[in-house]
Amino acid sequence: MRLAAIVFVLAAPTTLAGPVTRAAATLQPTKDSKAQGTVTFTKTSGGVRVQARIEGLTPGLHGFHIHEFGDCSAPDGSAAGSHFNPGAEPHAGRADAARHTGDLGNVEADATGVASLDYVDARSSFEGASSILGRGVIVHANPDDLKTQPTGNAGGRLACGVIGVAKGE
Ligand code: CU
Ligand code: ZN
Repeated sequence: MRLAAIVFVLAAPTTLAGPVTRAAATLQPTKDSKAQGTVTFTKTSGGVRVQARIEGLTPGLHGFHIHEFGDCSAPDGSAAGSHFNPGAEPHAGRADAARHTGDLGNVEADATGVASLDYVDARSSFEGASSILGRGVIVHANPDDLKTQPTGNAGGRLACGVIGVAKGE
C-alpha cells in the first residue's frame, strides 16, 4: 500500500503539468505605502497579455516593471533588484524595440487612485531566458520617463509581488 501511494504521488503531477499558460502576482504594499493589487499574465499568440488592477495610488502615472528577483522581503522593495533585462538592453518603454524585457512602462491611476492595465506584451514569455516566472513586479511612486538609464527615474517602490504559475484557463 505504501509503495502504491508513493507511485501515485509521483505520477500525479505529470498528469497536471503542461506548458505554463497563465501566471499571477499579488502586489503587496511596501513600508509606508497603501498601494496593492493583482496582475495576471496570460499566454497569447502575440506574447503575454498583462492585466493589472492596482489601488491605493496617487492619481497619475506610476512606473510599472518586472524586476529581476521575485523577492519582496525588503521593506522598501529593493530586494527585487533591477529591471529584468536578460538581453542586456537599455531602459525604454514597452513599445520600444530595444528595452529591458521588464519595461512595462507606466500604469495610470485615476482620481480615486485606481489603475488598470490590459495589453499584450510581445517580449514577455513563460519559457527560456526571457521567462518572467518567479520574478518580481514593482509599482513605483513616480512616472517612468521611458528614457533615463537604467530606471526611468521612477522613484521609490510602492508595491511588490512575485510572479507565480497560475491555473490555466
Ligand atoms: Cu521598477
Ligand atoms: Zn527598465
